[in-house]
Amino acid sequence: MLAIEELKDGWMGKAGAKMLLIVKFDQSIKGDGYILKPQSIQAATPVGLLYGAFDYLRRQKVGEDLHVTSNPSYQRRILNHWDNLNGTIERGYAGSSIFWRNEKQAPTVTEADRKLWREYARANASVGINGAVLNNVNASPIILSDDYLNKVKEVADVLRPYGMRVYLSVNFASPMVLGKLATADPLAPGVINWWKDKANEIYKAIPDFGGFLVKANSEGQPGPQDYKRTHVDGANMLADVLQPHGGIVMWRAFVYSASDKDRAKQAYEEFMPFDGRFRDNVIIQVKNGPIDFQPREPFSPLFGAMKKTSVMPEFQITKEYLGENIHLVYLGTLWEEALKSDTYQQGKGSTVARCTDGSLYPQQYTAIAGVANIGLDANWCGSNFDQANWYAYGRLAWDNQLTATQIADEWVKLTFSPDQTTAGDSKWQNGFLKPVTAMMMKSREAMVNYEMPLGLHHIFAADRHYGPGPWYAPKKVRVDWTPPYYHKAGADGIGFDRTSKGTAAVNQYQQTVADEFDNLKTCPEKYLLWFHHLPWTYQVASGRTLWDEICYRYQDGLQSVKEFQKTWDSLRPFVDEQRFEEVQSKLQRQYHDAQVYKDGCLLYFQTFSKMPFPPGCEKPIYTLDYLESIDPFTMEKFPASNGGQ
Ligand code: GCU
Repeated sequence: MLAIEELKDGWMGKAGAKMLLIVKFDQSIKGDGYILKPQSIQAATPVGLLYGAFDYLRRQKVGEDLHVTSNPSYQRRILNHWDNLNGTIERGYAGSSIFWRNEKQAPTVTEADRKLWREYARANASVGINGAVLNNVNASPIILSDDYLNKVKEVADVLRPYGMRVYLSVNFASPMVLGKLATADPLAPGVINWWKDKANEIYKAIPDFGGFLVKANSEGQPGPQDYKRTHVDGANMLADVLQPHGGIVMWRAFVYSASDKDRAKQAYEEFMPFDGRFRDNVIIQVKNGPIDFQPREPFSPLFGAMKKTSVMPEFQITKEYLGENIHLVYLGTLWEEALKSDTYQQGKGSTVARCTDGSLYPQQYTAIAGVANIGLDANWCGSNFDQANWYAYGRLAWDNQLTATQIADEWVKLTFSPDQTTAGDSKWQNGFLKPVTAMMMKSREAMVNYEMPLGLHHIFAADRHYGPGPWYAPKKVRVDWTPPYYHKAGADGIGFDRTSKGTAAVNQYQQTVADEFDNLKTCPEKYLLWFHHLPWTYQVASGRTLWDEICYRYQDGLQSVKEFQKTWDSLRPFVDEQRFEEVQSKLQRQYHDAQVYKDGCLLYFQTFSKMPFPPGCEKPIYTLDYLESIDPFTMEKFPASNGGQ
């Protein structure tokens, strides 16, 4: 049994100790939860025992209490791999896909693949992740061909012992592309039959197949609207097909049209009218914020508002907008902030966590998704510190009440302390653990400051979403893909007016929250320019003008990265050379990038504010001309660490 193997392998207690592993239901156990005692692990399922064993070992190593009952917050704790069938990964920064490679003929499976997938499944089980969508949401219909389904079955067979199910992203037009039907209309009998046959075929090979993830009528993907049908028609058709097999449909709410309508409002407008009309085995998968995985966003107004529909949060582990695998940004704080956001939909305390985990609304299925940052790189994630984000996602999916601090503390101990004694040693704790966790805890706020403080968002250079591009606005690009649409900087000020006098996006929130965001006096400063368009001379809480505050924030973000560098440099004695150097060189690049961000944004905004940099805000070292000359698509000149002027 896997739980026994893990305990034998990782045991850090007394030699010869006897452990009792009990598979027996107990009223206090939910799903794959478990009860730990110093001499026993009890669970209702074998995979529950495995989770219990991993938790036991973790507690031994970090020195935590061995008396605990632990139950998962969500039934389905899923990774979404945006892996293409040619082996590339959309927004992937850790090498090629662990599932797919560019193959001319039918995809193959080797022993090395199986070994890697086993390691992958084991790592996931160690943090409680129990599902994986194996392919990109921008899905190729080919994934449903016989050859590819054979490989999916192979993956499922390896993942199963670790309690992981496989899921697939499906392309809504598959019946046309693969089945050669004339339509993919979800109400057409031929189309329904095609999907039925496909589901039968899948479940014959993979009896515990999890279900489908669907990106429909979003960013050019096909969907039911192509046939004048609705999201309900599309989702329910697939749900009915999967229902006899126990499968679910995760239907994404990431939709917005090519228009100058406030993008932040569109998902809510499109989905709310359908509340209560989706089948029980449909879950609407909602990104944490209303736009798109920005360094900071308020929560999506769909959370808690859809009261008769199952809803699941989607987080992004891969840092598309947060410095890829280069910047050190710990996401535990971002997700904690999102999960703890209070929607007020059922009174105070109606957090996003509680609105999605079944505690406030009855949901037949509860789930959470994280867009994976995993690839073939030896460290899986493209950087050492990005492993913390995979870990943190799993921990929060298991227990959505954990704090980011606690998770960071665990991760640093598990990752860097050579043994149990060291983890408890005060020299190590003060010398390494404290400074590193402090750096992690500050890292996301630092990025918000040097990239887009005070509620600014989406001011990235086009497409790659890495460098700054507040000026980027070619006529041929749709306006909602250009930063000026989001920051609205002009002579009169900066920020997106989403108040009741502007686009009225605030009104999509419950009244208490709507009032809070609408009113300048109560709107949290972190969301100020998300909801308000304000003059450069507006006085913020610190007493400074808005312009000065923006300058200080960028300066502060840059300064924080300098401090991270100093902190890390002082930690050399505690880390092996390889990891030390990797982190050190990435921090160097991060500092350079933060400087580019600060200079680019401030110089550009200054062309409107016409105000001087306040004392304490260092003069830019680059010129606006130089920064604007960088090709936003290739970003080729951007990496130059000594470039400039
Ligand atoms: C973002 C991202 C795309 C992705 C999309 C999605 O827009 O840049 O690469 O396909 O989100 O979540 O569907």
